[in-house]
Amino acid sequence: MANYAQVFLGTAFTSKSFSEVTILKDFLYCISGDGIIEQLFSPLDEQYEAILKEYEGKGNFRRLSNDEYILPGFIDLHVHAPQWAQAGTALDLPLEDWLNAYTFPVEAKFSDIDFAQAVYEDLVKTLLANGTTTVLYFATVHKQASLLLAKICSLLGQRGLVGKVVMDNDDQCPDYYRDADTATALKETEEFIIEVQQLNEQTKQGVYPVVTPRFIPSCTDEALQGLGELAAKYNTHIQSHCSESDWQHGYVKDRYDKNDAFALNDFGLLQEKSVMAHCNFIADEDAKLFAETGTAAAHCPVSNVFFSNGVFPAKHIHELGVDIGLGTDVSGGFSPSLYDNIRQAVIASRMLEEGVDTTISADKRGVDSSRLTTNEAFYLATAGGGESLSLPIGKIEENYAWDVQIINTNLQNGKLPIFNDPLEDIFQKILYLARPENIREVWVQGEKVHQR
Ligand code: GUN
Ligand code: FE
Repeated sequence: MANYAQVFLGTAFTSKSFSEVTILKDFLYCISGDGIIEQLFSPLDEQYEAILKEYEGKGNFRRLSNDEYILPGFIDLHVHAPQWAQAGTALDLPLEDWLNAYTFPVEAKFSDIDFAQAVYEDLVKTLLANGTTTVLYFATVHKQASLLLAKICSLLGQRGLVGKVVMDNDDQCPDYYRDADTATALKETEEFIIEVQQLNEQTKQGVYPVVTPRFIPSCTDEALQGLGELAAKYNTHIQSHCSESDWQHGYVKDRYDKNDAFALNDFGLLQEKSVMAHCNFIADEDAKLFAETGTAAAHCPVSNVFFSNGVFPAKHIHELGVDIGLGTDVSGGFSPSLYDNIRQAVIASRMLEEGVDTTISADKRGVDSSRLTTNEAFYLATAGGGESLSLPIGKIEENYAWDVQIINTNLQNGKLPIFNDPLEDIFQKILYLARPENIREVWVQGEKVHQR
């Protein structure tokens, strides 16, 4: 019989497709020493009883209680780690003013490594406590503090994809916060990539360097070109912002006479491991370019309310073949929770479908077939994130990483309204009503990384 490092028994929910969720009722989850789901057994499988008999009572066997359920760990495709220091504040200005008035001054403080340590450690712990097991991070322009974020992820057990931000366009970036010059930005990015790839060798769950031009306005053509080349040379992920707001979309159109997506592609920045944040104003031809190049979109439904005055048409863009995941966009999004973003993704899609702007037309206001179901929003936070990053995460399936959250629905100070409900309804109640208190344990790559 196979020798598993750990065996769990309980009920899990996982996406089967964009719209369908599978319920694994009372399954056995057999985990290998390197933290991969080696085998799943349904109670109907022949070997189920034999495995149960062999492992039950041992230290590496865990039977969930009747009130506990397993969900895949959430995958956050867009976090500005330094902005955790201002989360929940400073949301009164449009994007271009917000960056200069609030955000660049906060990010500039990360030249102080002690400040970076305090903020980054608190953020990684908070995200884990919210059930988020993998995060795609923007750090700051500072190489040392960005490396520190990767080290904190490595130490605390989170799967972190971290970018040293590049901002070398002195036209758009303040003197007190930008790369010294283009050559330094590229040199430091290359050093950062090499060091994080070395750190990855010693990190069970993986930490990865990400090529990170902040967005086109903050970068020169030389930097964008050089970053595309570095990503190809080291086979890294790439992240940036694309067509987030009218202002950003318009700026790129003025500079290149083309849409953001096509401009990014000209610099080699759209590829299989690229994730572009927001994308609220992408046209169908931009979305088709995403689909052809394998580029994913990070849907940030809370932040979009504040900065885009729009709703990302997730359903439509998905139908055009684009991989999509969810992002909190801390701190354009005030909440570190992907639960909050699942809820807002559903709500925003309903606003888009029903129409909130009565000036569009008196009798037909919204955009048909825009709504996301609860299952679909769950998909974005889990399997969609995994596909976007091209990593085997986000599903409870053989050969995927054991990245999970264990939810207890019946706590003294966290009881969900469950009264003999079918499992389908329990799943929905967890997504809409669970709070961090209900997230009892979080596991990444077979290691317990959070417990309450
Ligand atoms: N575009 C460029 N930088 C940022 C940022 O920090 N947050 C958001 N939401 N959009 C951006
Ligand atoms: Fe952002």
